[in-house]
Amino acid sequence: MPELVFLPKGAVEPLCRVDVQPGDVVLDVARFHEVPLHWRCGQGTCATCVVYLEHAGQPASVTVSAKERNVLARAGLLDASLLAGTVWPDTPQTPRLACHCRVGETDMTVHFHAI
Ligand code: FES
Repeated sequence: MPELVFLPKGAVEPLCRVDVQPGDVVLDVARFHEVPLHWRCGQGTCATCVVYLEHAGQPASVTVSAKERNVLARAGLLDASLLAGTVWPDTPQTPRLACHCRVGETDMTVHFHAI
């Protein structure tokens, strides 16, 4: 069972660590455990739930939906290389939407801006 670690931006110590199931949505886990991760719509339109994910196997690549790309683009968070497609580098510097990201098979650290 993978572990999800929530680490607010600028913090040294994690806010919490929780065991999760592969396939769980990162935002759902945060909400269930009352992690103060800012969010509003819960469905990929507002861009308030931006996170940066760190996990084993990086750097790799990840395919994002056009909706996630377009919302992050509208928020001004993508450079030209990310705007060009939906296959992105999967690195801790890649912005993602917590409401679009699912937990994989390995532990993951979620870097986020606390409310
Ligand atoms: S909560 Fe609005 S985009 Fe994720």
